[in-house]
Amino acid sequence: MKFIVLPLLVLSVTSAFVSPAHGQVKPNISAGEPTAMESRARKLYERITGTKLPVDSPIIAQMADMIGKGNLLGAAQEATKDPNFYNITVKLMAMELSTRDETIKTPFNDFAAGIIGVTRDQTDARELLTGNFYYQGSGTNIRSNLIPDLLISNNHYADLETNRVDLAANLVRVEGQVIATSATASVASPDPAGVLTSRTFMGEHALMGTNRRLVEYTFREFMCVPLSEWADGGASDARIGRDIDRFPAGDHMKFQTSCKGCHTVMDGFRGAFAKWDYDGMGIKHSAVNTRGGAANYTIASDAAGIVTKMNKNNTVFPSGYITTNDSFVNHATRTANAEMFEWRGAAAGGNGVKAFGTVVANSRRFSQCMAKRVFKAVCRKELDAVKNRDLLKKWGDEFETSGYKLKSLFESISTKPECLGS
Ligand code: HEC
Repeated sequence: MKFIVLPLLVLSVTSAFVSPAHGQVKPNISAGEPTAMESRARKLYERITGTKLPVDSPIIAQMADMIGKGNLLGAAQEATKDPNFYNITVKLMAMELSTRDETIKTPFNDFAAGIIGVTRDQTDARELLTGNFYYQGSGTNIRSNLIPDLLISNNHYADLETNRVDLAANLVRVEGQVIATSATASVASPDPAGVLTSRTFMGEHALMGTNRRLVEYTFREFMCVPLSEWADGGASDARIGRDIDRFPAGDHMKFQTSCKGCHTVMDGFRGAFAKWDYDGMGIKHSAVNTRGGAANYTIASDAAGIVTKMNKNNTVFPSGYITTNDSFVNHATRTANAEMFEWRGAAAGGNGVKAFGTVVANSRRFSQCMAKRVFKAVCRKELDAVKNRDLLKKWGDEFETSGYKLKSLFESISTKPECLGS
């Protein structure tokens, strides 16, 4: 009798806890058939780590057990223990933000290493735009000489990737960003600002041009907004440079209705980067790199340290703004932009990249953007930011409450019904 009664009892107890929605749950008697909890555990694990585990893996069993007890977050926290969470999922998100093409088909680099490090070490993610640190690795086949392999080339980071180094275990945080001033000397960066002053970000956006792209891409990557969507033709044009034609093709209306919108807001912030340059090898700042000369470690700037390109083509509109220091002004403060960015703290302006990064990172939009980025990376689909505005605000607030921890954000977003299904 016992043999018949006992399984029946177990079955009836189990079914009492199974809601109608989970009617497909089968007792785990028929070996090989995954239960709904196991399927959910596997899905969560795959999303977080980018790797599959067999259904009989003990980790899946443990996660399924936690999910069964209603502890989805606990299950997600099991999955983020896997190094592939960093080596695959976080890395893919970071790589996409690191280049102008926004493609993941790009060599591993210092920008991506910074994002992986900050996620793993659970520091306040705002330091990605404000902190004085970088991450590097090590190993026998990894070229690791500071100046040739980290400061004036990507050798070090490329080697970490080619040698399939476990980034989760190998990356080490180094305090203090540095800039090469000669083939044998490097000095502390005068204006360190997390990944904004990484060799990769500067290399992508301060190469040639007029340092406007640095502003454009900071907003693309960390505010999740293309310039055309925060352009404001009604904002002040006081900071628009002399190189911007106010009468393009003889037409002032064209300036008013097209050019002005982007350039009011972008040129307002551009001054933050007035002392920075990149020449195809390393990053430069006029406070540490010497002026003029043909050598690779000098900078093209005026006596006040303003890089030449900030004031180039000065005859196009001679009464335009002349950059004389690294101050910036936030012109993205009229109603639509104020509502989009929700600035907090001293956000009207400042000097240099760290101050600029601080303004961006303290906005509410930054937190919402991180939630959107994480959603894409872990749920493997885009979230419509317009339709899901309230949801993103909520997730952004949760991220802030966690102390801006990206790891927690990955864990919580991976368990949301919008991501995992209900
Ligand atoms: C959609 C936003 C947008 C609009 C509209 C726009 N610009 Fe720009 N402009 C930019 C960005 C972004 C850059 C920086 C591009 C780069 O460095 O790759 C830039 C750079 C420039 C530069 C510097 C180019 C260089 O590298 O020397 C000039 C000059 C310029 N714009 C003029 C104009 C004029 C004139 C108009 C109107 C006919 C205009 N822009 C409209 C976004 C815009």
